[in-house]
Amino acid sequence: MLSKRLNKLVDCLPHCSTLADVGCDHGYVGIQALERGVARQVIFVDISQECLNKAAENCPAAFKSNASFVCRNGLGNIRADTAAICGMGGLEIISILDGADTLPKTVVLQPMRNVSEVRARLIEDYKITLDEKIYDGKFYDVIVADLSNERQSLTELELQFGLSNISCPTQDFVDYLLWEQTKLTNILNACSSQEVRSKLVLVEQALEIIRRKQL
Ligand SMILES: C[S@@+](CC[C@H](N)C(=O)[O-])C[C@H]1O[C@@H](n2cnc3c(N)ncnc32)[C@H](O)[C@@H]1O
Repeated sequence: MLSKRLNKLVDCLPHCSTLADVGCDHGYVGIQALERGVARQVIFVDISQECLNKAAENCPAAFKSNASFVCRNGLGNIRADTAAICGMGGLEIISILDGADTLPKTVVLQPMRNVSEVRARLIEDYKITLDEKIYDGKFYDVIVADLSNERQSLTELELQFGLSNISCPTQDFVDYLLWEQTKLTNILNACSSQEVRSKLVLVEQALEIIRRKQL
């Protein structure tokens, strides 16, 4: 059975002709996309041959003719209408987008760090349609974006926490804010840091917006 995180990633994929599962490792995202009939073809991509071999072993024989396995860094000249780039650092995801000859129409991203930088990079070419915090043993950000000529603008809070988290906060997002608030307050009690204080201000602003929405 897929974890809540992997399930959410697959749920976010639009129906597409070619999906690139970049940084596929075990290949579960691409394999599920084939099994659910969400993608007609999947290009499994990983910089590590060893990881790619796992995806090839896990891919059921019935789908082998719809799958290809490419060992390379990022997308490069691979053409896909959708790309899932999940479970790696945000700066790596940005460098994969920057290095793509052709940007996929839709991207489903799950950066592990530097999430605001990913949002800032996305809005140069994409419109973010979903940006949700989920809890699955730890907190993860799941971002879906479509190529767009319209420049989307995000407030500082939206850049920090994600558009849909602010407009439609889920319980997982509220739990994340409360967890951050406790963590940052404990740090400030132990030592004084302007950076931590600024982060806490943003967390408390987001909590205040949510409180006002609930009134
Ligand atoms: C932690 S795994 C994530 C696997 C899967 N996408 C997930 O979300 O569960 C990260 C994978 O990304 C691969 N990777 C990291 N940087 C990459 C890059 N620039 N191009 C292709 N693969 C990369 C790693 O080799 C590793 O297999």
